[in-house]
Amino acid sequence: MEVREEIERLVETLKVYQDAYYIDGKPIVTDIEYDRLFDRLVKLEKENPEFILPSSPTHRVGSDLTNDFPEVKHTIPVLSLDKAYSKEEVLSFFDKSIKKDGSSLSFVAEEKIDGISIVLYYENGILVRAVTRGNGEVGNDVTANIATIKDVPLDLKERIDIAVRGEVFLPKKAFEEINSRISDPKDRAANPRNLAAGSVRRLYSSEVASIPLKVFSYEGFWRDKAKQPKSHIETLLELKRLGFNINESFVHFSFSPKGGQELSFDELEAWLIRKNEERAALSYEIDGLVFKINELDVRERFGYTEHHPRWAIAYKFESPQAISTLLGVTCQVGRTGRITPVAEITPTFLGGSTIKRATLHNQDYINQLELAIGDTVSITKRGDVIPAVEDVIEKNKLGNVTYQIPKECPSCGFPLKNDGAHTFCKNGECPDQERGRLAFFVSRDQMDIDSLGPKTINILYDLKLIRRLDDIYKADYNSLFGIEGFGELTIEQLKRGTAESKERPFRVLLSSIGIPDVGKKAVDLLANSGYTSFDKLIQASKNDDIDSLLAIKGIGESTAKTIINAFKDETLLQLIESFKALGLHVDEDQDNIKENAEEQIFLNQIWVVTGSFDNFNPRSKALKEIEKRGGKTTSSITGKTTHLLVGRGGGSKREEAIKHGVTLVSEEEFLKLIGQMVEPVQGTLF
Ligand code: IVH
Repeated sequence: MEVREEIERLVETLKVYQDAYYIDGKPIVTDIEYDRLFDRLVKLEKENPEFILPSSPTHRVGSDLTNDFPEVKHTIPVLSLDKAYSKEEVLSFFDKSIKKDGSSLSFVAEEKIDGISIVLYYENGILVRAVTRGNGEVGNDVTANIATIKDVPLDLKERIDIAVRGEVFLPKKAFEEINSRISDPKDRAANPRNLAAGSVRRLYSSEVASIPLKVFSYEGFWRDKAKQPKSHIETLLELKRLGFNINESFVHFSFSPKGGQELSFDELEAWLIRKNEERAALSYEIDGLVFKINELDVRERFGYTEHHPRWAIAYKFESPQAISTLLGVTCQVGRTGRITPVAEITPTFLGGSTIKRATLHNQDYINQLELAIGDTVSITKRGDVIPAVEDVIEKNKLGNVTYQIPKECPSCGFPLKNDGAHTFCKNGECPDQERGRLAFFVSRDQMDIDSLGPKTINILYDLKLIRRLDDIYKADYNSLFGIEGFGELTIEQLKRGTAESKERPFRVLLSSIGIPDVGKKAVDLLANSGYTSFDKLIQASKNDDIDSLLAIKGIGESTAKTIINAFKDETLLQLIESFKALGLHVDEDQDNIKENAEEQIFLNQIWVVTGSFDNFNPRSKALKEIEKRGGKTTSSITGKTTHLLVGRGGGSKREEAIKHGVTLVSEEEFLKLIGQMVEPVQGTLF
């Protein structure tokens, strides 16, 4: 690949990764991969300055701008930090700094809080703005939300103009407590950082006030330079005096330590080990340590690159690592046709489990590692992300060269195409893609068909019973009878599960059909802007009405184009027609009609209720439940009675019912029927 092309790709890829991290709060790659790509870009740009793109992320730090809050320009440089992963790298930072500026230097080491960066602007001692980091130049004004946090003083002890950088975070305990109150696990935040990020961006500051966010302030920039303290430690103490909350766990490395929080350079290693051990017991999350030059005049001389100050470095905690051998590479075909190369490795124990596979992301990633089969590799697992091959430790002796993704789709044999950094199979009828689309469609967050797990999908797919999404509702599940694993009960569950899923709201259906970029968030944006049915989207597509999609805040050009094109696709249009005929909710109007209505499970039945109940007191409550579901109720048993609901003490009616061949139903069974079975009721009659 040409250097220019590689630079363009890296810029594009990093942008996607940054948006996932900063805007969605959901990283899609490991920090290690991100850093590797970033470092590669820095290197290529250094060697080929003529190809540097104006939009390169090396000029800017990641953006967390959203449309929800006004944008404001920062008046101080809001940069990121250079990174180190080993004691040696930190020592080398110390060494280089000392060489550059003589031996009067000292360093302050602080915890690197895993939260969200914020800049607090005070004028005349009053908090006037709290701004997110944004892209380093422009951030979002989130003052109303930040002002709810007690650690942020609203007015200072002195009438000064000052900008203060700090980190907003949520203590671990509060995170767990808030998350545990969210009943649906899929709505829970992955970590305290994400929950804090979401809180800072809430539209209503009243809601923010109820979340126990905290802020540690760690840098101060006085407008009147004469008032600025001379060292970082003095700055921290002055910030504290002014009313800010500072993290007092910092230590000071220098040539003449005086004990306590003052350490000598020889004590660095022991301190790193200690901090790593202490980490788990801290009440908040930290993802590393930050080393900063203490003397501010020296900082000024060192200055900044476009990305980070030259006077500080972040030491990132090592994530669990293991060494293994690359046995082979399997290429998985996702539902969108994207090919993901997966490393098959010798089983190795890592972060609490045995790993046999690790992601290789894409061909670019493999090229950068120059990874070949037989190589000895290091594997890492960061946080809760999937394990990744991080590096080649030793080249294979077999003469194998860098692995190449095959030219043909491993599932259907179609020629593969490159698009950006990724490789795609563009055959819409590719079996793996079809399986993937089916599995996605029925998954819990989508149409939620419990009985159709990935295994069952594969069996039904191989039996040619289902292929397209609408086949799920057309298949004759009775034909499965007799096939191993498909008993009467399983078949009933399949029928019931699919029938129930027909009632899922339009928005769920739209997000389940797998149009690229049209996930839950985009669907809400569309529907809230009037696109409340497939027909409306099809019409927009017919009219090439890209402008009205672009007018929706949050829908960008590429998503708008994807939507317009998607609804021109004959296969999708046929699918929608079929959904319509099958009675799925192709229009939001259908959702409301059925929302409060119960399924008419007792239609054409005549019920009598007798005795007393734990859950239906007075008895009329039970009658209502029957009538809501289409059943009739009478007070005495006749030849027409079909069911008798019997509670405690319903003696004589019970005898009569048996005589008439009426179905007897206990309270427990009744609860099950109406879907309110919580726990078995004690002492029923049957
Ligand atoms: S100093 C110009 N100190 O880490 C100096 N940053 O990866 C900038 N962070 O954007 C930062 N704890 O949000 C500094 N004690 C600390 C920090 C800290 C967390 C965050 C900060 C920064 C990011 C860089």
